[in-house]
Amino acid sequence: MTHVNAGRLRSVVVGTGSYLPENVVTNRDLEERLATSDEWIVQRTGITRRHIAAPGETTSTLGLRAAQAALADAGLTAADLDLVIVATSTPDFTFPSVATQIQFGLGMTGGAAFDLQAVCSGFVFAVATADKFLTSGSHKRALVIGAETFSRILDWEDRTTCVLFGDGAAAMILEAQPGEGTAQDRGVLTSHLRSDGKHLGKLFVDGGPSSTQTTGRLRMAGKEVFRHAVGMVTDVVTDAFAATGTSAADLDWFVPHQANRRIIDASADKLGIDPAKVVVTVNLHANTSAASIPLALCVARADGRIKQGDLVMIEAMGGGFTWGSALIRW
Ligand code: ACO
Repeated sequence: MTHVNAGRLRSVVVGTGSYLPENVVTNRDLEERLATSDEWIVQRTGITRRHIAAPGETTSTLGLRAAQAALADAGLTAADLDLVIVATSTPDFTFPSVATQIQFGLGMTGGAAFDLQAVCSGFVFAVATADKFLTSGSHKRALVIGAETFSRILDWEDRTTCVLFGDGAAAMILEAQPGEGTAQDRGVLTSHLRSDGKHLGKLFVDGGPSSTQTTGRLRMAGKEVFRHAVGMVTDVVTDAFAATGTSAADLDWFVPHQANRRIIDASADKLGIDPAKVVVTVNLHANTSAASIPLALCVARADGRIKQGDLVMIEAMGGGFTWGSALIRW
């Protein structure tokens, strides 16, 4: 799916918010449970710590906190929303969706709410999907959430995967506003989504309702994922530049999916993006899958880096494989 907005409506970011579980697990904490070391994890991934949900916390409770923070940031209430999309691969239940749970938690009785599953690319897919609803004129304001509790699907005996992930949630509110149809408009300027199901065996969860009737655990051929990641994300970022007549030099901020510092650095380098423009949070949050990009956006907004009018590229690659980019003028 490739689409450049030609009409006047744009999906403009009017608020963001995040929530991270209080419980922080450092690499040193993991050293006590596993044959691993802080040095190995930092050197291979850049990760130093991750937040892990407490027993009473679930994807929907994290997502609800993030949604409430985004509404407060936007100065809006739930009644102002007519669409909720939650990107997640770790729902509380097989059904109903996390989105309807959050909708209920917000006290929202109108509009539509659904989950979208594209693993680590979920937030980019959800932003692109919300953008189609808003720019078609069918909906006015969308709450887009990335929320995950990957700690619940990790094999905590498998040091090759369990050290890589964390829990968290973050949300963005997009509002349909008139634009000129140029790259100077505020809002989502373009999005580019790709998938290729032949890669299933490289990154998957080995259970599910229809196959094993269990939740399953995450399995990953890390080297294989790494080998494909840089090429895939740089392709869709290049597509976004081409569709909008922009280039790496025009970007104010590059906010990639936060899986691994080496993938982030190699992608930015290949694209010719100044390292000073790259937002990195993988060191603090580890890989929070669909939550990682909105969490990074929230960090960069809170510390004053992302400002209104800035040109921000988001991109991700994840299980499926799925991969995608979206270029947003803040
Ligand atoms: N601590 C210590 N040693 C470890 C650990 C650990 N936590 N994990 C693996 N090792 C060992 C391995 O057993 C291996 O030992 P051996 O040589 O004696 O067999 C050695 O370290 C090297 O292992 P590799 O797997 O070759 O390590 P590599 O350099 O490839 O790094 C990593 C592994 C970090 C997983 C890397 O491949 C990677 O980042 N891949 C991409 C993952 C990713 O980005 N996923 C994103 C998508 S996630 C999603 O969509 C849900």
